[in-house]
Amino acid sequence: MKIGILGTGDVGKTLGSALIRRGNDVMLGTRNVSRKMEEKATEEAPQSFHEWLSKNKKVRLGTFAEAAAHGEIIMNAVAGHAAIEVLAKVKPSDLKDKILIDITNALGPWGKGPIELFVANTDSLAERIQRAHPGIRVVKSLNTVTAHIMVNPAGLAGGDHDVFVAGNDPEARERVARFLREEFGWKTVLDLGDLTAARGLEMMIMVWLKIWSALGTSDFNYKIAR
Ligand SMILES: NC(=O)c1ccc[n+]([C@@H]2O[C@H](COP(=O)([O-])OP(=O)(O)OC[C@H]3O[C@@H](n4cnc5c(N)ncnc54)[C@H](OP(=O)(O)O)[C@@H]3O)[C@@H](O)[C@H]2O)c1
Repeated sequence: MKIGILGTGDVGKTLGSALIRRGNDVMLGTRNVSRKMEEKATEEAPQSFHEWLSKNKKVRLGTFAEAAAHGEIIMNAVAGHAAIEVLAKVKPSDLKDKILIDITNALGPWGKGPIELFVANTDSLAERIQRAHPGIRVVKSLNTVTAHIMVNPAGLAGGDHDVFVAGNDPEARERVARFLREEFGWKTVLDLGDLTAARGLEMMIMVWLKIWSALGTSDFNYKIAR
């Protein structure tokens, strides 16, 4: 399947690697292709993007607009504060009727102050995206787990933990649930209904960050016991 991934951070790269291994045709999107290829490794990111791409040769790199045009399914893995601006640069015809799996959290850009969400309670980033692009079918998912668990749930607790989907189109939610089961092996995909559920899903990052700090690892996930 053709998949367009908006974003070249940990999430974009982790999804890209996993999806090419499954035989998908993947394009990652960035602001500026040549600048991304010239980026040097840093202390925070010891592997440059160029080095990563040389180990994942089947992944193609394009602009955000090219990656969105490429995908039959689009995965939104850009910094939350940039999501509206990034999608505004995509031709509406390249979004029309497609599913957008929205993985973003409503954070940043990082500053010196306390971490806070720029939208919450009565609205969500996913709903803002849906309102800005009524032609796409936004499904909020995967934003509640760290990148490597997104693509390898079996690596944690034998896969006995949950991921969520929320979106206004029931058929799109079901399609994303199937995608998560087939491509990554998720066992439990909990359907939370319409996109207002994205408010809670996005607010979960605040407790996720505290759990991360308490455990000293991002190797954890939520399990809904019943
Ligand atoms: N990291 C995780 O494990 C994790 C887990 C769950 C959810 N999330 C969410 O997933 C998203 C991606 O996270 P990430 O950690 O992979 O990377 P990130 O650092 O949050 O985002 C990287 C991407 O955002 C783009 N970007 C940043 N600032 C921009 C701006 N001003 N204008 C346009 N594009 C901009 C970058 O563009 P360039 O390609 O041009 O550099 C890059 O593609 C975030 O919303 C995050 O909250 C992350």
